Amino acid sequence: MAPSFFFALVVVSAWWTAFMLAAAAREAEERGGGCPARKCGNLTISSPFWITQSQMDRPCGPLDYLVVCNNSTGNATILSSSGYGFEIKNISYEERTLLVFDPRKLEDLTSLNRCHVPSWNTSAKLAVPFRISSAAHLDLVFYNCTKAPPAERHQQLGLVETRCRNNSFARLGERYDDRSNYLEGCRATFLPVLEPPGSKANASRYAELVRGGFLITWDLPVTSSGKR
Ligand SMILES: *[C@@H]1O[C@H](CO)[C@@H](O)[C@H](O)[C@H]1NC(C)=O
Ligand SMILES: *[C@@H]1O[C@H](CO)[C@@H](O)[C@H](O)[C@H]1NC(C)=O
Ligand SMILES: *[C@@H]1O[C@H](CO)[C@@H](O)[C@H](O)[C@H]1NC(C)=O
Ligand SMILES: *[C@@H]1O[C@H](CO)[C@@H](O)[C@H](O)[C@H]1NC(C)=O
Ligand SMILES: *[C@@H]1O[C@H](CO)[C@@H](O)[C@H](O)[C@H]1NC(C)=O
Ligand SMILES: *[C@@H]1O[C@H](CO)[C@@H](O)[C@H](O)[C@H]1NC(C)=O
Ligand SMILES: *[C@@H]1O[C@H](CO)[C@@H](O)[C@H](O)[C@H]1NC(C)=O
Ligand SMILES: *[C@@H]1O[C@H](CO)[C@@H](O)[C@H](O)[C@H]1NC(C)=O
Ligand SMILES: *[C@@H]1O[C@H](CO)[C@@H](O)[C@H](O)[C@H]1NC(C)=O
Repeated sequence: MAPSFFFALVVVSAWWTAFMLAAAAREAEERGGGCPARKCGNLTISSPFWITQSQMDRPCGPLDYLVVCNNSTGNATILSSSGYGFEIKNISYEERTLLVFDPRKLEDLTSLNRCHVPSWNTSAKLAVPFRISSAAHLDLVFYNCTKAPPAERHQQLGLVETRCRNNSFARLGERYDDRSNYLEGCRATFLPVLEPPGSKANASRYAELVRGGFLITWDLPVTSSGKR
C-alpha cells in the first residue's frame, strides 16, 4: 500500500469520527442532553423536560425544564420563579402544552389555621420559557381588602366571600385577559382557570377551579448552535 494512500485513509477516518461525535453531541443536546424518557406516575417525561434520579446524575438540560418527581405519590412538578412549583397534571408534546396547577395556592386557600388568598399573580410565577396558553381561560380574581366593598360593587362583580374571611373575596371573570376588575381598597390577584366541563362555573367553587389548573405552553430551549 502506498504511504500517501494510507495517510489519506487515516485523515478521512479521523475526520469521519470527529464528524459523528459532533453530530451525536448535537443530537443529544437537542433531545435535552441525552436523558432517556422516564415515567413519573402516569406521565412520560421526555425532551425538553428531564428528570434526575439522584443528585449524582449530571444535568440533562436547562434547569427550567427540570421535572421533580415525587416517586411515592407520582406527582411531577416544574419549578416556578418563586420556588414552589407547579404540579403537572398532563402533558401534550405535540401541542407543546402542560396542564398544571398550583398546589401551594390551594393549600393556602384551604388551610384552617393560616388561611389566605393568593398574593402572587400566576403569570409572575412562571419561569421564563413558559407562557399561559391562549386557550380559553376564565379569570379567577382574589381580592384582599382593607374594608368591605360597597354593597353595589359586591353585587355588580358577583363577589363571593372566601372561607379565609377577613374581607377576602373571589370573583370569576369571563376572560383571563380582561382586567376590568378593579376594586378600590383591595389588592387583586389574577389566576387563569379552565372552565370545568359540563358546568356553569361559579366563583363559589374557587378551590375546585384552582385544582382544575390551567394550560401553559413552552418555547423550545435554544441550543448552542442557535437552533430551536
Ligand atoms: C423512582 O422510581 C423508579 C422506578 O420505580 C426508580 O427506578 C428510581 O430509582 C426511583 N428514584 C428515586 C429517587 O427514588
Ligand atoms: C412526596 O410526597 C409526599 C406526600 O405529599 C411527601 O410527604 C413527601 O415528603 C414527598 N417526597 C419528597 C421527596 O418530596
Ligand atoms: C400528590 O399526589 C397525591 C396522591 O396522588 C395527592 O393527594 C396530592 O394532593 C398530590 N400533591 C401534592 C402536592 O402532594
Ligand atoms: C393516574 O391515572 C389514573 C387513571 O386515569 C388516575 O386515577 C390516577 O389518579 C392518576 N395518578 C396520578 C398520580 O396522576
Ligand atoms: C392528557 O393529554 C392527552 C393528550 O393531549 C389527552 O389525550 C388525554 O385525554 C389527557 N388526559 C387527561 C386525564 O386529561
Ligand atoms: C391580606 O393581606 C395581608 C397583608 O399582606 C395579610 O396579612 C393577610 O393574611 C391577607 N388576608 C388574606 C385573607 O389573605
Ligand atoms: C397582578 O397583576 C395586575 C394586573 O396585571 C397588577 O396590577 C398587579 O400589580 C399584580 N399583582 C402583583 C402582586 O404582582
Ligand atoms: C382573620 O385575620 C385574623 C388576624 O390576622 C386571624 O387571626 C383570623 O384567623 C383570620 N380569620 C380567618 C377565618 O382566617
Ligand atoms: C354558585 O354555586 C353554588 C353551589 O355550587 C350555588 O349555591 C349558587 O347559587 C351559585 N351562584 C350563582 C350566582 O350561580
